[in-house]
Amino acid sequence: MGKLLKKLNEQYNFEISSGYIYYSMANYMKDKGMDGFAHFFNKQAEEEFEHAEKLRQFLFEVDVRPELESIEKPQVEFGNFTETFKTAYEHEQEVTRRINELVDLAAEEKDHRVTSLLQWYVDEQVEEEDNFRGIIERLERIGESWAGLYIYDGELGRR
Ligand code: FEO
Repeated sequence: MGKLLKKLNEQYNFEISSGYIYYSMANYMKDKGMDGFAHFFNKQAEEEFEHAEKLRQFLFEVDVRPELESIEKPQVEFGNFTETFKTAYEHEQEVTRRINELVDLAAEEKDHRVTSLLQWYVDEQVEEEDNFRGIIERLERIGESWAGLYIYDGELGRR
């Protein structure tokens, strides 16, 4: 397996571990009685597994058998609700950094198949980051108001 495909396999694993982190955030929110926020993070986790699946399919298509690595135990305590979403946002920024690195490497290796695949991830990251920024902005406006928090919890529960 060449360097680029190895890195793609790494990203495949990273997407799965991202889902694992969001499951942990979902459990944290559920434990705090915020079922809507928990639902949001469960959905987010499912999306990460879809991102992983897309990479898995691609690897098979280019005749590489994807390899699973061990997954680090995720953080279990996340602070207040805004802080939790901020941690998720920072995680998405890390995903973006990794995708960009892959894009650069694909260009270096002139592998247009990978460049084409990665374009989808570049666009997806714009959406993910924007999404989290929007949520954080809302939460910062709501502040400590439980009434506001429960309304927003209900809203995100319908995601
Ligand atoms: Fe798969 Fe949220 O990036």
